[in-house]
Amino acid sequence: MDYFLIQGGKRLRGVVEINGAKNAVLPIMAACIMCEGEVTLRGVPDLVDVRTMEHLLNQLGVATRREPGGVMRLKVEDEMNCHADYDLVRRMRASVCVMGPLLGRRHKAQVSMPGGCAIGDRPINLHVAGLAALGADVDLVNGDILLKAKRLHGAELFLGGPFGSTVTGTANVMMAACLAEGTTVIESAACEPEIADLAEFLNSCGARITGHGTPRVSITGVRQLGGCEHTVIPDRIEAGTFMMAGAITNGELRLRNCRLEHLLAVVDRLRAIGVNVEREDDEVVVSSARRLEPVDVTSQPYPGFPTDLQAQIMALLSLADGNSVVTEKIYPDRFMHVAELNRLGAKLRKEGPTVIVQGVKRLVGAQVMASDLRASAALVLAGLVAKGETRVNRVYHIDRGYEKIERRLRAVGAEIERQSTAEE
Ligand code: EPZ
Repeated sequence: MDYFLIQGGKRLRGVVEINGAKNAVLPIMAACIMCEGEVTLRGVPDLVDVRTMEHLLNQLGVATRREPGGVMRLKVEDEMNCHADYDLVRRMRASVCVMGPLLGRRHKAQVSMPGGCAIGDRPINLHVAGLAALGADVDLVNGDILLKAKRLHGAELFLGGPFGSTVTGTANVMMAACLAEGTTVIESAACEPEIADLAEFLNSCGARITGHGTPRVSITGVRQLGGCEHTVIPDRIEAGTFMMAGAITNGELRLRNCRLEHLLAVVDRLRAIGVNVEREDDEVVVSSARRLEPVDVTSQPYPGFPTDLQAQIMALLSLADGNSVVTEKIYPDRFMHVAELNRLGAKLRKEGPTVIVQGVKRLVGAQVMASDLRASAALVLAGLVAKGETRVNRVYHIDRGYEKIERRLRAVGAEIERQSTAEE
């Protein structure tokens, strides 16, 4: 199993190119199940999760071909298999995004119920209720959700849950509704940019979606979807992570292919902390004062502060001059990184869905364990500034969502290398 060795204390300086968004490309790849023609995607990051989705699509009869420079071509060749099995779904929750396309196009979907994961249990009750509203019959068979429908029909449905809307749930219902008879209105749809990008992709294939990016999305069903060419939006979570890397090391990073308008809640908190974030031509320049102000952060559905950057900003606030309060409103248990950051000398105290961050003067290197994709990114950020050596174990978590992160950090001055242990 791979681990990172990081020598802390280097200030990061230089240019970082932001890749295409993982959480946009995964549902867009799944949507190709519904396309009659060939699809060309550009800006596809080379991530473990993208490969897992490719593998799943291949099993579902979609041929995929990667070309240099982040290009992927996809084409449906066989529509027989409609079963996304447990082995793949347990590895990647986003596999559930094939549910809507399979149901919409093939009128049948059998998808393993996703299990829990390090950030909390990951129910799909809202997905299933939304698809049932479109006319799907639903059964639970040996841990699989089995959905069938001769013909889907439009519906007006509410997709809000106790923690706000559901991102992949909105994706699933929106995709299925593209091929339903009549018009569907989704109230309390997710507003994330990744949902808007998926809708843009579907409209390029001939779908008729309006209101995407707002809580009320309308989809008028069409008979079929063709192919198209589409460039995936930049990854705002990767961009936010690199912004915090520049800030925590007191360096200066210039981000390319970064859509600042997707990060306004993050920029708001960073500027309150004392981090400078400025647009310069087609780059976003990030630098920070030596002294960091403590702030309060609460994760919310988009356009609020993203839960996927909660761990990373907690690492940054560990070094602020005073006490901060970080509250997690999407996944109340998403705090596996707290104990690990405390091993590096942070002073974090969990009180239910809130963590009190008592700023310290410095972090000190140690061995830490990655637990999920974004927690591992937070541990890398802390290691970049901790005194001495930090070893981050189980970095396969980080490979799921950040392409070659250690190479890209080294290119801007970090002292970080990937090592492997014999153990599997
Ligand atoms: C998406 O997950 C992202 N993944 C997650 O990013 C992100 O953390 C999350 O949205 C929230 O922004 C992808 O897009 C592939 P949800 P998703 O359904 O869609 C509850 C990463 O690091 N809920 O919006 O699975 C749920 O428990 C990943 O890239 C229900 O109750 O999240 C949670 O509390 C991690 N019933 C909240 O809603 C449901 O049917 C938001 O979940 C569905 C969700």
